Amino acid sequence: MTQTVLLAGATGMLGGRIARRLLDRPDARVRLLVRGGDSGKRAALDPLLARGAEIIEGDLADRASLDRATLGVAVIFSAVQGRPDVIVDGQVALAEIGRRNGVRRILPSDFALDLFEATPGEHAMFDLRRAADEKIAATGIEHVHVLQGALMEMFGPGMGTFDHEAGTVAFWGDGTRPIEVTGVEDTARMAARVALDRTVRNGKFAVAGDRISILGAADVVEARTGRRFERRPLGSEADLRAAIAEAREDASDPFKAVMLAYRLYMLTGQTALSGLQDDRYPDLELENFAAFAARALPRRAAA
Ligand SMILES: NC(=O)c1ccc[n+]([C@@H]2O[C@H](COP(=O)([O-])OP(=O)(O)OC[C@H]3O[C@@H](n4cnc5c(N)ncnc54)[C@H](OP(=O)(O)O)[C@@H]3O)[C@@H](O)[C@H]2O)c1
Repeated sequence: MTQTVLLAGATGMLGGRIARRLLDRPDARVRLLVRGGDSGKRAALDPLLARGAEIIEGDLADRASLDRATLGVAVIFSAVQGRPDVIVDGQVALAEIGRRNGVRRILPSDFALDLFEATPGEHAMFDLRRAADEKIAATGIEHVHVLQGALMEMFGPGMGTFDHEAGTVAFWGDGTRPIEVTGVEDTARMAARVALDRTVRNGKFAVAGDRISILGAADVVEARTGRRFERRPLGSEADLRAAIAEAREDASDPFKAVMLAYRLYMLTGQTALSGLQDDRYPDLELENFAAFAARALPRRAAA
């Protein structure tokens, strides 16, 4: 039976991919909540419109637009990014108004390690999402939290772990703690599938393409690229906690403390995923890190 899915965040990195994956599904009718303004971003939506997506102009801060957007919708999907006004107020408004209009389920913009296991006050992004998720659950709407760990692409150039130009890999602790990682396309494919699956239960839906440590990932990257990456230990857990405390004092870069908090949970394993549902759909096989590296990184030069 066809279900209408409203997606917020289709102009974003993950949301655009989710929109494409939803459009791949024969059982979905896709509606996009898109903010007005930037014509460049709008142009990027043209291929989605050509495949049958419908646009509703609106904003999570504009309740009237959420009312219009959620009429006739079965599932709301959020892939937004932002500050508390978006992640908490906006997503909660979307859930409340959707619920009033008969929407069955919402998938909030979680897409992380197990943010429900984080210690309050330690990770600002996880705190926001947990605050939103608690309020969303209180509305009585069905809620499914897709958790896929770190995106494998975060190990790519420019993301702070591997420096592909300098040939270094940096890590806190000893670099041997495995963390859950999933490719961004697999995340979108799995999330689109879960959104439409009426048998998925309320609560967390965790998947992982792989469980790999930073040093394990370094071995894979080296085997693929034929390049040696110098291992750069950055310090102990205590050093990392001190760096986080210092970063919180530095108003010039509020994101720095958040990035370090991600590292903290990668180091301690506190927010590791459990109850993985990787095999739920036999036709949907998740790529492991070696396959990702083989696809995404330049091949080792022939000797
Ligand atoms: N685990 C990981 O490694 C990992 C990595 C990356 C992202 N993520 C998660 O994935 C999710 C999506 O992140 P992303 O990087 O794809 O975000 P992004 O590229 O920054 O896109 C954010 C989207 O939210 C929309 N948006 C923001 N405020 C809005 C509002 N008031 N009303 C309607 N739409 C609004 C933006 O629309 P405009 O185009 O109009 O601004 C855009 O489409 C987040 O939860 C993020 O934490 C996880």
